[in-house]
Amino acid sequence: MSSPKSQSGQIDPPSVRAIRGSFLDFVDDPFYAPEAESARYIADGLLVIEDGKIKAFGTYTDLQSEYGDVFTTTYKERLMMPGFIDTHIHYPQTEMIAAYGEQLLDWLNQYAFPTEKKFQDKAYARKIAEIFLDQLLCNGTTTALVFAAVFPQSVEAFFEAAERRNLCMIAGKVMMDRNAPDYLCETAEAAYEETKTLIQKWHHKGRLRYAVTPRFAITSTPEQLRKAGELLKEFPDVYMHTHISENVNEVAWVKALFPDCDGYLDAYDKAGLVKERCVFAHGVHLTDGEFQRLSEAGSAIAFCPTSNLFLGSGLFKIEQAKSAEHPVKLGLGTDIGGGTSFSLLQTANEAYKVAQLRQQKLSPFQALFLATLGGARALCLEETLGNFEIGKEADFIVLNLRATPLMAFRNAPDAPSTLSELADQVFSLIIMGDDRTVQATYVMGEIAYEQESFQWPCS
Ligand code: GUN
Ligand code: ZN
Repeated sequence: MSSPKSQSGQIDPPSVRAIRGSFLDFVDDPFYAPEAESARYIADGLLVIEDGKIKAFGTYTDLQSEYGDVFTTTYKERLMMPGFIDTHIHYPQTEMIAAYGEQLLDWLNQYAFPTEKKFQDKAYARKIAEIFLDQLLCNGTTTALVFAAVFPQSVEAFFEAAERRNLCMIAGKVMMDRNAPDYLCETAEAAYEETKTLIQKWHHKGRLRYAVTPRFAITSTPEQLRKAGELLKEFPDVYMHTHISENVNEVAWVKALFPDCDGYLDAYDKAGLVKERCVFAHGVHLTDGEFQRLSEAGSAIAFCPTSNLFLGSGLFKIEQAKSAEHPVKLGLGTDIGGGTSFSLLQTANEAYKVAQLRQQKLSPFQALFLATLGGARALCLEETLGNFEIGKEADFIVLNLRATPLMAFRNAPDAPSTLSELADQVFSLIIMGDDRTVQATYVMGEIAYEQESFQWPCS
């Protein structure tokens, strides 16, 4: 179908367009429903997009009579999936990925705090925000829940960059009023006021959302946590984003700092910070009672395996978060720069190994669910993102399961014909894949990243 010409004589992109090829998404949670019912695989499918949203989705055979002459891009020997969702990441820590030798509290003092100081300079923050977003997109991540730095201008720079790219991003200014260098601390009142101003400016601006972001209980006084809770009351659909129970020394310190609280989570709970839209990163050392409370409250955990291994924090209990009795919303987080990769494939790889070390299994479909629809549910975005349901926003990725010589050797070019063949191929995607595997990333139906074509010398 030819494209219409606008008055300026330029060719307008067609308002309805389609992508043809193999698709995988999730329509239910494979931790609870059989994989045959929760994973949806269409070997020859068509995704029809209008105004950035999904207008139709199904087999090419079913849709060809209605949409066969729509402008179509066909991807052969590729797998389309919903864009990945990273439920915990720090954009100012991009440059300090792979910082040697320390565990959490020393790592914060030695590396994270001095790096975040640089984000007082808005021009610098702008530059890193662009690098960060480039990295997300080339790794197939289209949405993330993001820590900025304490400086409001670091949030401004981030949201401005995300808005220009039409990305769905949730972010917030870090709040700290103790146990951090003076140059990063401010009063509880000042953090409250600055956060309020940022919420009023950015929350629901296009695809952007705001997260009230107390760093963790160690760096916020009870007063500051209460102020954060007040903001959640004043703006009921903003998010809350923090860390919890990542490291044993951290947990012990919180106990000492909050003697009147019944554990770490209770320090947040007493401030009104444990409810829906509240996302807690790590949770490696949560107690049974804390898992139960998070389940009741509808809060979410961001499981960050590359970070938990790199910082020696411990092994997250996936099976407890996904228990039948007290299910907790769960997503995957890269936790850059405590984490070691922007790739949610690599993050899923390490999640699988964390499960192995605990004598548990994480199936490839479970892992990919966490990276897509599971992440959307953890961030209360499942109405608009997470799979290829009609009406949702068309953020998706094009994966090459034969992207390296070894992957090409490992995986046959033919599209899998059974669920177990597919499981085998996508398991190799998780274990061997990374940014090299992401051929293209689409945001609201428009191409936002495309890998330069590269010929492997030995292929
Ligand atoms: N706990 C408090 N701050 C941080 C941080 O920046 N990274 C990680 N991994 N944990 C934290
Ligand atoms: Zn973190």
